[in-house]
Amino acid sequence: MARAPWWRDAVVYEIYVRSFADCDGDGVGDLPGIRERLRHLADLGVDAIWLTPFYPSPQADHGYDVADYRGVEPLFGTLTDFDELLRHAHELGLRMIIDIVPNHTSSQHAWFRLALVARPGSRERARYYFRPGRGRSGDRPPNNWTSHFGGPAWTRVPDGEWYLHLFDAGQPDLDWTNPEVGDEFESVLRFWLDRGVDGFRVDVANGLAKAEGLPDTRRGTPLPFTDQPAVHDVYRRWRRVLDSYAGDRMAVAEAWSDDAELRARYTRPDELHQAFNFHFQVADWSAAAFRRVIEDGLTTTSMIGAAPTWVLSSHDQPRHVSRYGGGEVGLARARAATLLMLALPGSGYLYQGEELGLPQVDVAPEHRQDPTWARSGSTDAGRDGSRVPIPWSGSAAPYGFGPGSAATWLPQPDDWAPLTVAAQTGLAGSTLEYYRAALALRHEHLAGLDEPLEWLPSPPGTLAFGRGRLVCTTNFTARPRRVTVEGRPLISSGAPVEGSTAVVRLPPTTTVWWVRR
Ligand code: BGC
Repeated sequence: MARAPWWRDAVVYEIYVRSFADCDGDGVGDLPGIRERLRHLADLGVDAIWLTPFYPSPQADHGYDVADYRGVEPLFGTLTDFDELLRHAHELGLRMIIDIVPNHTSSQHAWFRLALVARPGSRERARYYFRPGRGRSGDRPPNNWTSHFGGPAWTRVPDGEWYLHLFDAGQPDLDWTNPEVGDEFESVLRFWLDRGVDGFRVDVANGLAKAEGLPDTRRGTPLPFTDQPAVHDVYRRWRRVLDSYAGDRMAVAEAWSDDAELRARYTRPDELHQAFNFHFQVADWSAAAFRRVIEDGLTTTSMIGAAPTWVLSSHDQPRHVSRYGGGEVGLARARAATLLMLALPGSGYLYQGEELGLPQVDVAPEHRQDPTWARSGSTDAGRDGSRVPIPWSGSAAPYGFGPGSAATWLPQPDDWAPLTVAAQTGLAGSTLEYYRAALALRHEHLAGLDEPLEWLPSPPGTLAFGRGRLVCTTNFTARPRRVTVEGRPLISSGAPVEGSTAVVRLPPTTTVWWVRR
């Protein structure tokens, strides 16, 4: 029987490039820094890494504003550094996927610079959404759309036209009805596939097509800039490109769609391979909420034979330790949620630093860099708190992030010494050793397992399910719960399990894996 493609049950580790490891000592992470630290990831036991954008960029949105899709931002290294990193990752048995940002370019991209000096109605402007404004003097934006980062989604240029940007003004939206755009992105995909990447994470995958005529948004009606039918033509074309390469190349969509059916469309057999399940990421800490999002995720993907995905933290969301309440309780919940996630069918996406139990950082206003902070008129602190550079070793900042003592681009907290990789390595009970053990057991018991999940009876406030010989039980409550399990405990996210025979006491706020007798 043919082996299932690697991505169907891979554990993928997200690297936020600015914040992972710094090789040249400027306080900003870079590609050689990642290469030097790949051993950490191989030892952790993940199957693949995902790199956030590392392309030349003015960094208006830390790389999600791409000025050249075929290069490397000098801050992060060179194309040779990229090739070296990829080669080394492959040598260690790690796959590598990269972020592709097709919804918008940077305002510094050659196309947009040409558009700015070209006249209204020109071919150069037709790659973006340039439109006249409303009102007699055209001084009102062409429609009522707002930027996801706050403020209007339109900026006016000196000749009076406006251009669309669903994010920062430095991120003009491309017009995907223009065939030049599709051709350019096919060529970009091939550029990186030829270099050997294993796949892509597709940024704002559901936003590329806009409703004809760019109508105003209206309460109670679908948004005119997400999930438009035409977006799927793009991914059918991309799938043909990916399939034309050997080696199970894949793509995972970032598509924040509430509607399960709309979300499923991105992973139809002739489109992308996976889509993130953000409902799991934002679910409340309760047995009922988790059961609902798990069932929803499984149903959505099984409708079309796709592989489910699960994620708890990312560079866009508060870290799950803090989302679940912070402190000891938050950490206990986070560890329990991770072990539950790792038992689910499909693939899991981890975010750098969660293996250290890092909390969200309250970055002081004067250090905030996320464009959300300024664009929201300083009302939304933004996402910097989940992007603070990783502590590797030592007792004070920069905790071995770089070779010298340069301050990191976002300051690290003073109390991170016990959280460094060095401090947690070999330490019984540390979150790092716990992740390593969990990932090793996942490989041993679940790799390549094509068994669906089977819910098992369990008391209120708990969940129990089996997959193959593995049983996963989670106690979401703050009190011990008695569960019936015919098995031997393999790993606990918290205290060891008490009890013998079939009925055992599941400690509070804990997930335990068992192997069935
Ligand atoms: C990325 C964000 C980014 C946005 C605009 C996303 O959804 O994950 O970090 O700000 O796209 O590119």
